[in-house]
Amino acid sequence: MIQLSVVIPTLNERPNIQPIFERLLACLDGIDWEVIFVDDDSPDGTAEECRRLALSTSRVRVVQRVGRRGLASACLEGMLASSAPFVAVMDGDMQHDETILPRMFKEAQIPGTDVVIGSRHVEGGGMGSFSRERVKLSNLGRRLSLIITSQELSDPMSGFFVITRTYLNKVIYRVSGVGFKILLDLIASSPDPVNVREIPYVFRNRLYGESKLSITVGIEYLVLLADKIVGYAIPLPFALFSIVGATGVVLYLAIVTALYRTGYTTFLRAQIVATGVAMVSNFLLNNLITYRANQLRGWASITKGLIGFCLACSLGALSNIAVAKLLADRGVQWAVAGITGIVIGSVWNYSVTAVFTWHLGQRKSGRRTPAKKSYLPAASPDA
Ligand code: GDD
Ligand code: MN
Repeated sequence: MIQLSVVIPTLNERPNIQPIFERLLACLDGIDWEVIFVDDDSPDGTAEECRRLALSTSRVRVVQRVGRRGLASACLEGMLASSAPFVAVMDGDMQHDETILPRMFKEAQIPGTDVVIGSRHVEGGGMGSFSRERVKLSNLGRRLSLIITSQELSDPMSGFFVITRTYLNKVIYRVSGVGFKILLDLIASSPDPVNVREIPYVFRNRLYGESKLSITVGIEYLVLLADKIVGYAIPLPFALFSIVGATGVVLYLAIVTALYRTGYTTFLRAQIVATGVAMVSNFLLNNLITYRANQLRGWASITKGLIGFCLACSLGALSNIAVAKLLADRGVQWAVAGITGIVIGSVWNYSVTAVFTWHLGQRKSGRRTPAKKSYLPAASPDA
């Protein structure tokens, strides 16, 4: 019986696959284990490399996700694709010290334990050669995490842990699956206090490939916090869309004030410029934040998306004005009529652009160029 499934999310980690497997093989001796690589269709052919390995051993499996992205959601899918009573999650770049896995696995078996965390911030652990900025960022993240969980954790930003299947099953319907911080997500999703154990390790340097840390990781962290706070009441994408919409209103008012009130141009001209700028800004912000999973990239699709977005929002604005006028004409108080118009216009804008601009719910091909070499088994000629 398999006792431990090791889930490894990968994005362009091809050169790390074979070495990481060999390290697991060396340190997990005596445990019945398997490894599941969850690859987001990496252009460097990571999934093919995993398959090549999987053909020679039943310890290796691969889940290749096409048209989807995200570290947290990849980890969740890997965990759900496994059956072992204990699941480890570990990076695919050898920065996590796999030699502590046997101890983590052992502690996870202590009755009552929910999660065992590989921590850089307990006695014996360390950040390795993290830059000073990166350490500060990590500390800021650690402080912010207290907004959504009261659990005292030394390293809530860790992506290295072992979780029991019982605990996973308990929280799976509440996890957000947004962004990079899957451990924090899993812990903040628990209605009860979580029984956590921590084991020190020192973060290593990367040997091959490069880090995927970028500004979006920061944004996604804030989105995770927001989802944990409001997500049970309002669908998060709609909340984000509305916040972006509000920034558009502020921008619009600022531009009209700057151009018209200063006497620079006519009211109509000022309005046209302000509307244009606000629409473009709303489009770009939504593309960056609200729909980051379906983000439009490249000039052609961004231009096409922007035109569609402006058309849809113009119709939304028309229906907003029409509804507000209709209600006001019937004697409804102007503020109520105005707000009803805005709500109807926003729901229209959100629904139409979600489907037609960002193709929500449709499968997109994530990879533009096929991997150079394929390790798919060739079809046998006499089949
Ligand atoms: N499937 C999938 N999809 N995997 C991804 C994605 C994605 O969108 N983005 C990153 N990964 C994989 C990488 O290939 C790597 O195996 C692992 O996730 C971590 O990514 P890195 O880019 O190496 O992250 P890091 O070294 O900056 O961050 C590490 O430290 C953080 C704490 O500061 C990770 O361990 C994080 O999990 C951890 O929170
Ligand atoms: Mn890394």
